Amino acid sequence: MTTPRLILHGGAGPWEKDNHEQVLEGMRQAIQIGWDILKNGGTALDAVEQATIILEDHPLFDAGVGSFLNDQGEVEMDALITDGATRDFGAIAAVTQIKNPITLARLIMTRTNHRFFVADGAERIAVEFGMQLVPNFTFITEEEFANFKKRLANQTAIEPGRGTVGAVALDQNGNIASATSTGGSPHKKKGRVGDVPIFGAGGYADNRFGGASSTGIGENIMRHLLSKHAVDLISSGVPAHDAAVAAVEAVANSIPSPEVGVIVLDSKGNLGAHHTTAHMPVAWIDKDGTPQVSMTKPYNI
Ligand code: GLY
Repeated sequence: MTTPRLILHGGAGPWEKDNHEQVLEGMRQAIQIGWDILKNGGTALDAVEQATIILEDHPLFDAGVGSFLNDQGEVEMDALITDGATRDFGAIAAVTQIKNPITLARLIMTRTNHRFFVADGAERIAVEFGMQLVPNFTFITEEEFANFKKRLANQTAIEPGRGTVGAVALDQNGNIASATSTGGSPHKKKGRVGDVPIFGAGGYADNRFGGASSTGIGENIMRHLLSKHAVDLISSGVPAHDAAVAAVEAVANSIPSPEVGVIVLDSKGNLGAHHTTAHMPVAWIDKDGTPQVSMTKPYNI
């Protein structure tokens, strides 16, 4: 039997506001939910989905409630779930009425013959599976609406530094899964989609080697298929932590100030995390089964 492991991120970014303890508390809640599933024999897919739901419902992260508004004052969300047992994925992009995008991504992977749906087409599938659509305003926090108005007026918005959320888990059967969910970038043009739903960019998993979830400026992550690159490094014998560092540094070597980060987990349960931004909240379960959190590298995982 494999010893389960779990690692989460809450997004690479500046995280300038003085709210780090609340952010880390959200990370603790999410890792606890995922860990309870894994330690009771649950699957990696359930653990990453449920941990991600906690972060989607938490207003301090850029996913679900608290997502950045686009240039039309609307929340548009993307999500990806990956299954390392089957090297499979489910993805959605530009949805506006799905309470927990990661759950719809999983339904698409497991219950349709397709893998990637966008916008109202994705929402039609959600309704077919009995999910309720919710009004877009339910995702909009007062703080983000105030920032949106400042951005419209070309005033400096004090960005809270919220980020994409992600999780990677290894379960007792040796299965690896990753989940990544986002509201995208602040004031993005309507219809813009970043890295998150792109298999290999926003997330990746392969039971033979490991899994990863990426965060940061999606355009930079997509160009490097950051999550796949990190797992490829593991497959060529690079230790998990070094793979996270090398994959992020590869982006930084070709794009100045790329503002990206990644979390990784290998098939033996070794963890790694690295970022180029000021902060990237990360939560993990250490080898004693104790939850750990940190706003920035080095994580001493
Ligand atoms: N990494 C999230 C995005 O750029 O949309």
